[in-house]
Amino acid sequence: MMLHDRYGRQVTYLRVSITDRCNLRCFYCLPRGCSGGSHPERLDLSEIAAVVRVGVGLGIGKIRITGGEPLVHPGVVDFVRTLSSLPGISDLALSTNGTLLAEHAQALRSAGLGRVNVSLDSLRPAVFRAVSGRNDLDRVVAGIDAAAAAGLAPIKLNVVVMRGVNDDELPAMLDFAAAHRAQVRFIEYMPLGLAQRWASSYVSRAEILERVNPYLAAEPPRLQPGDTATYYPLRSGGEVGLISPVSCRFCDRCNRLRLTSDGKLRPCLTSEGEVDLRHALKPRVSLEAIAASFRAATAGRPACGTYAGATDDAPASATRAMSAIGG
Ligand code: 5AD
Ligand code: SF4
Repeated sequence: MMLHDRYGRQVTYLRVSITDRCNLRCFYCLPRGCSGGSHPERLDLSEIAAVVRVGVGLGIGKIRITGGEPLVHPGVVDFVRTLSSLPGISDLALSTNGTLLAEHAQALRSAGLGRVNVSLDSLRPAVFRAVSGRNDLDRVVAGIDAAAAAGLAPIKLNVVVMRGVNDDELPAMLDFAAAHRAQVRFIEYMPLGLAQRWASSYVSRAEILERVNPYLAAEPPRLQPGDTATYYPLRSGGEVGLISPVSCRFCDRCNRLRLTSDGKLRPCLTSEGEVDLRHALKPRVSLEAIAASFRAATAGRPACGTYAGATDDAPASATRAMSAIGG
């Protein structure tokens, strides 16, 4: 009883947003001055764990904990411990902005977390601050080093490439990653949610490749099953990942569903058709109803997502910020 959609793709990966709150205000994600929301209908972590348990029973083996910023949730370490005790999860990862990672890395590792992805859009303090609203670059770097020391490996650094913001830092990012035992992934800016100044900031994979070309080895790039990145070998050893959701769609090998912090299963990052889980959780948890919701969300997966109609002023799918979806 696995989760196969109408197009023959199996769902094996669940991204779990445990909160839509965040301690940063990245301009492409959260609107400035927005609290990050306080939804009375948020699920609690025991409800989220019940959903994950059912998903794992349906063949999901990879779980990523996201937000908002998952490390602002006071229950995150216990939640990791609960999930890591579930048989059937082969990959338990967490995506973070890194600001609170130095404090939590060791506890997360001890609780059974496998690895972390850290968002890092600039190595220049002023640019980091202009993007995120806070002067936290040093804390993020300390977090990356703490994660490496704790063995939360491989550490992946996610860089959203934006013209006129950080597109001149790509070589510096490669050097930084090599020096900090991490791997860089350059992500195309998506016209989603509350993404601002998208059309003028977008940099395509082709242009990113042009900029890093002197650093690439001659060997061809490789794909990894279940991963959206294409990995290019570097001359210096290691690899750089290119995640190109806009110019090189990877929907044909998409294997994921998303659980939002207000209890909805989202069939596709770009689509609005969500399956509400609350009736399956309240007033009491029904494992059967959760399983039915997973099947409904799987059946609702489109062949390919769409950012139709995105412009600089009006991104596609503006009803939900990325902070509420979990990236
Ligand atoms: N385009 C690309 N990535 C985005 N993220 C959020 N908004 C966007 C967007 N518009 C991703 C980035 C960021 C993480 C929190 O979510 O990877 O690091
Ligand atoms: Fe927070 Fe990440 Fe959104 Fe920045 S991109 S506001 S760090 S959730």
